[in-house]
Amino acid sequence: MKVLVIGSGAREHALVRALALDPVVDAVIAAPGNPGIAEVALVEPVAAGGSDPDDVVRLATRLAADLVVVGPEAPLVAGVADVVRAAGIPCFGPSAAAARLEGSKAFAKEVMSAADVPTGMAHVCSRTEEVEEALDALGAPHVVKEDGLAAGKGVVVTDDRDTALEHARACLDKPNGRVVVEEYLDGPEASLFCVCDGETVVPLSLAQDFKRVGDGDTGPNTGGMGAYCPLDWAPEGLVDDVVARIAQPVVDEMARRGTPFAGVLYVGLALTARGPRVIEFNVRFGDPETQVVLARLRTPLAQLLLAAAEGRLAEAEPLRWSEEHAVTVVVASEGYPGTPRTGDAVGGLDALPGAPEVYALHAGTGTDDDGLLVSSGGRVLSVVATGTSLAEARDRVYAAVGTVELAGSHHRRDIAAAAERGEVTVPV
Ligand code: AMP
Ligand code: GLY
Repeated sequence: MKVLVIGSGAREHALVRALALDPVVDAVIAAPGNPGIAEVALVEPVAAGGSDPDDVVRLATRLAADLVVVGPEAPLVAGVADVVRAAGIPCFGPSAAAARLEGSKAFAKEVMSAADVPTGMAHVCSRTEEVEEALDALGAPHVVKEDGLAAGKGVVVTDDRDTALEHARACLDKPNGRVVVEEYLDGPEASLFCVCDGETVVPLSLAQDFKRVGDGDTGPNTGGMGAYCPLDWAPEGLVDDVVARIAQPVVDEMARRGTPFAGVLYVGLALTARGPRVIEFNVRFGDPETQVVLARLRTPLAQLLLAAAEGRLAEAEPLRWSEEHAVTVVVASEGYPGTPRTGDAVGGLDALPGAPEVYALHAGTGTDDDGLLVSSGGRVLSVVATGTSLAEARDRVYAAVGTVELAGSHHRRDIAAAAERGEVTVPV
């Protein structure tokens, strides 16, 4: 089987690695991929980073791909999965209509309300006066979210009303700008990826992501600075509960509307004293959680994703997992999540022990005119380690991050630290 993966981040590097390990897979091709992916798969150029549906179909047809797996949200929102499927090629990823669950926070709220899914109270606003009313009605801490796609950076959580209002104004000033003002949800966050085929929901393992740039959850939000799994502190039965009360009702509601959801429904949760509440939906694998979730998945990935693409998940075998813990730490460029500095030499990777214990997945890397590895984006590497305990996985990942050479880089030093100390608790 030949699999084409669309995307170029560390998530896609993790997907490519896992797909290539599936015994039924003969070839994995990534478009556009990155230099790290090129070490384990073929890479092909693609227009608009994979967001031009016709170009993706041309490529998939030329390669005679048996399955297309779409990594990022932008191609999904642009309808890549629709066009690939219409060409008769199985595609793992939702239609543009179903991808609105991520593409519009207002739409996601409306579906949740129709499906009676627990989430924070929210007001959708298109004028400053509405925002002011909503901020005063809900009180501090204030949560203001840009309605459309914003690469994880459209959300501001603050105690300061002026800061909240300023962010709302900046979003409203964009064409068709809308914001969602939401109730603050208190409690640890968790991500659950649910593989769906339009009807059946198969949950992967819970993971936790670290969205803020700085240690102790300080500074602005980013695309994600690190992650770990499993979550030993999670309440028993949480996964079943989230499937029963959130993922399955949403999948049923989308099917009822004639826009069935097939792909990954990424459920971003706050575990509050009143139970799990949805913070957000994404319609794809999360980055960096995928790096740790796939590090532990033992079920062959290509067969699972093909079963989802072909509507056969109900027949799938129960998933198998390694007993190990996995941690990933993102190494980011100077300036990220603002304007990142690029073009710096990336070194020290050859010294890493390698998979499955410790390995570097590439995200924003490229090659310079001499063919040397350089940084080309904000999140440059996602270093992954596994271990028999969370402490061992953390020791390994941080030892490896210490050997990576990238001028001006920064990373968080506290990924999975509170969990290792047993300090993550769900409020009661
Ligand atoms: P989102 O893009 O919706 O995932 O939001 C990014 C981050 O903002 C989340 O991971 C949370 O840390 C935070 N956040 C979003 N919504 C809320 C909320 N209602 N209450 C508390 N924190 C939130
Ligand atoms: N881990 C957050 C995201 O993928 O959006």
